[in-house]
Amino acid sequence: MRAAERQRLAMEINSLLSSNTIPMCSHTMENPVANYADPHHTQRELDTVFASFPRVLGPAALIPEPGDYFSDDMNGAPLVLSRDLQGVVHGFYNVCVHRGARVVTEARGNRRLHTCPFHGWAYDPTGSLRAVPTADAFPDLDLSRQQLKPIEVAERHGLIWWLPDGWDEAQLTNSLGALDDELAAYSLEHLTLFRTEILEQPINWKFVMDGFLETYHFKFLHRDTIGPFVRSNFGLTDTFQTHTRMVVLRASYDEHVLHAEPPQDLLSHAAVMYQLFPNTVLVWQGPQIEVWTAYPHAASPNQCDVRVSVLIPDPNDEQQQRVDWERNWQVLMDTVLNEDFAVSRQAQAGMTSGALTHFVYGRNEPALQAFHRNLAQHVLLSRHY
Ligand code: FES
Ligand SMILES: [Fe+2]
Repeated sequence: MRAAERQRLAMEINSLLSSNTIPMCSHTMENPVANYADPHHTQRELDTVFASFPRVLGPAALIPEPGDYFSDDMNGAPLVLSRDLQGVVHGFYNVCVHRGARVVTEARGNRRLHTCPFHGWAYDPTGSLRAVPTADAFPDLDLSRQQLKPIEVAERHGLIWWLPDGWDEAQLTNSLGALDDELAAYSLEHLTLFRTEILEQPINWKFVMDGFLETYHFKFLHRDTIGPFVRSNFGLTDTFQTHTRMVVLRASYDEHVLHAEPPQDLLSHAAVMYQLFPNTVLVWQGPQIEVWTAYPHAASPNQCDVRVSVLIPDPNDEQQQRVDWERNWQVLMDTVLNEDFAVSRQAQAGMTSGALTHFVYGRNEPALQAFHRNLAQHVLLSRHY
């Protein structure tokens, strides 16, 4: 985030706090329970927003070096993301062109050649076929034309994005609007991966987004974890095309309200949540950045995979070594897994119980409303349905 925007936000926050008000929408908003419980709705989401918007597949720090790769089944198909020897990121299906076996069997690593475990066909980091054992048994095979089926990807702001058919990086940039410049200012591409994990959860994928888009619950659900460190019920929200940003305040911001002057550096007293439409939340908080991506299991409203990655500054930096990253990770897991996801599992059961037809987002949950308005616009009102 650039300095001018930080200053503008600080002024707005101080004005709200000094008049003892919080960011509010004009109305409450209802959302049908079926959006969390109906398999047809999940299929519509996959066919519309998941198929037609660029999506984050993971941070580029997962594969910083030439030859690095990661693979997962998170995005509705077995995929591999790989950095070639020139440093360019490629994406392809993890499906051998010979007889369909999984070529890459580890979650992450570094290889110059990926050898299929079934019959030994070998592919380079661009996905091109390089070697076939007993090649004379395949006289019609033109090696130079065979490759693992590619997907279109782009690397931007330290993130690897899947691009819909026909999209290029310029369109990705346009789709970010003013966020493109704001994300650039964080220099995410210079951060290092601390840890990444895939968490399979029996909840609708949208619950993963929802948990980051309001602080109304902090004082209650997170009473014993991060609640005391964050101002509850305050989320200054702005939208950027389909994306949503929410600034939340650390408890330390209060000192500045008393002195009625915006802090010199807003970001040292705040955390910033970015809902990168459709299925990613990027959390900026001090030196640590979290990237959360959720993807539904095929047409299943109550099952999703979540990839969480934590990015940190260069661990060789002496000052940063004093931060206990392991402890931060533990607090994050305690909060999100044992509190946010635990209550989401209960709510998921509630959604399928038949007890409710709609649930409601308050005027005090503007980021949540913005996200669901975007979804409604692009899924519910899709001309295909
Ligand atoms: S299926 Fe991969 S080498 Fe046969
Ligand atoms: Fe939470």
